Amino acid sequence: MKTIIEPFRIKSVEPIRMTSPVQREKILRDAGYNLFLIRADDVIVDLLTDSGTGAMSSEQWAGIMRGDESYAANSFYRFQDRISELTGFDHVLPTHQGRASERILFELVGGPGKIVPNNAHFDTTRANVEHSGAAAVNLPIPEAVEPHARHPFKGNMNVESLEELIDDVGVERIPLVMVTITNNSGGGQPVSLENLRAVKKVCRHHGLPLFLDACRFAENAYFIKHREKGMSNRSIREIVREMFDLADGATISAKKDGLVNIGGLLLVRDEEMLRRASNLLILTEGFVTYGGLAGRDLEAMAQGFEEVVHDDYLAYRIRSVEYLGEKLMAAGIPILEPPGGHAIYINAAEFCPHIPRDQFPGQAVVCGLYRIGGIRSVEIGSVMFGGSTKSSDAVLTPHSKRQQTGQPLELVRLAMPRRVYTQSHIDYVIESAGELVLRRKELRGLRMIYEPPVLRHFTARFEEI
Ligand code: F0G
Repeated sequence: MKTIIEPFRIKSVEPIRMTSPVQREKILRDAGYNLFLIRADDVIVDLLTDSGTGAMSSEQWAGIMRGDESYAANSFYRFQDRISELTGFDHVLPTHQGRASERILFELVGGPGKIVPNNAHFDTTRANVEHSGAAAVNLPIPEAVEPHARHPFKGNMNVESLEELIDDVGVERIPLVMVTITNNSGGGQPVSLENLRAVKKVCRHHGLPLFLDACRFAENAYFIKHREKGMSNRSIREIVREMFDLADGATISAKKDGLVNIGGLLLVRDEEMLRRASNLLILTEGFVTYGGLAGRDLEAMAQGFEEVVHDDYLAYRIRSVEYLGEKLMAAGIPILEPPGGHAIYINAAEFCPHIPRDQFPGQAVVCGLYRIGGIRSVEIGSVMFGGSTKSSDAVLTPHSKRQQTGQPLELVRLAMPRRVYTQSHIDYVIESAGELVLRRKELRGLRMIYEPPVLRHFTARFEEI
């Protein structure tokens, strides 16, 4: 069958409040043309993020009721067993979300003078690296910056650049090498097992630990199974296990492939590191058996990590994102190709060449999609990375040289919450995008009239030019 149906039935529903174009015009104006400042109630299809926005299963809700809230509770040990079985890691620290794991990790290994290479740091990862005093360096492959290059593993790390970097700065300045699977800042693109093995080889040669930022590990494994030579007969679990076997540690936000609304993990192999990380966890998050979460959250996570590796779920998940990408392209909207695992990224500069970069073409597209269909997306371009923000190189900059001069691509991310929307919601998004193509010439640039000093995209205000 060509139609891939949602592999679940719906037991509990949340109403969507419909709005008219006239209402949306006012909502948009009142929010200063910044969709972070619009209430979810005023959004029809919310594609702002795939993080913490997924729907839990009946088994996860059952786990919420089973949650044991006593100290050193059974829920932790069930959770630990599930994660150990999936990843092969014996040492599992729960945290409240991904960035808490990052904060602990880089407090331990970061610091002034240190350099952390990654295929592409996510912004919180970069922020935590930099907060420790260290520098974050992105080392993507050259294809990653070509929006239409159809490399099957565009998230790969540039192994040559990694070796050059180690030679340039010296191994003692690099506390660890990190690989983000899938690469969120680079379009949700996967990393191949072959690439992970090659990175591991370099790490082993230099005695460097390899850490994964494994928020979307299951989506990455699905791409490996279906795109990498010799992988089609292996199970997702086997592939997941090999990815983690190559790593010495991992930070994970369970708000993505953990299929929960809150939660994170820090995985380590080294006993000494475990001891030090546990102390930091206890300092700000909580004891090692709950890490800032409730027992019920651990139950929901344990079950989420089980469900996310199911073939039917992943086939539906990856296909729904791909379907949106294919239809947008057919409608005449340029996207980062090929479609990513969790999101489609519209190339706004290419879509609206009449809007100069300093008038934020991405934000113009975000506003256009909201006006037409009440769809919430997010600009990932000059609004997010321009201005006084430090991370001006965060999106798709391949190498340290470009980091000094490079400008970000002007992207609009449509991120797909997990198990929340059906195909008709996505068809509605596609129809709205078709309308956007017809009205492309009407899209107007924006002027920023309020710019906060840090992370300006969250609270900036604009007016239309
Ligand atoms: N690493 C990656 C690759 C991420 O995408 C995120 C979050 C994090 C780390 C941090 O995890 O939010 O649990 O602290 N990404 C979300 C997004 C926010 O919308 O892409 P967190």
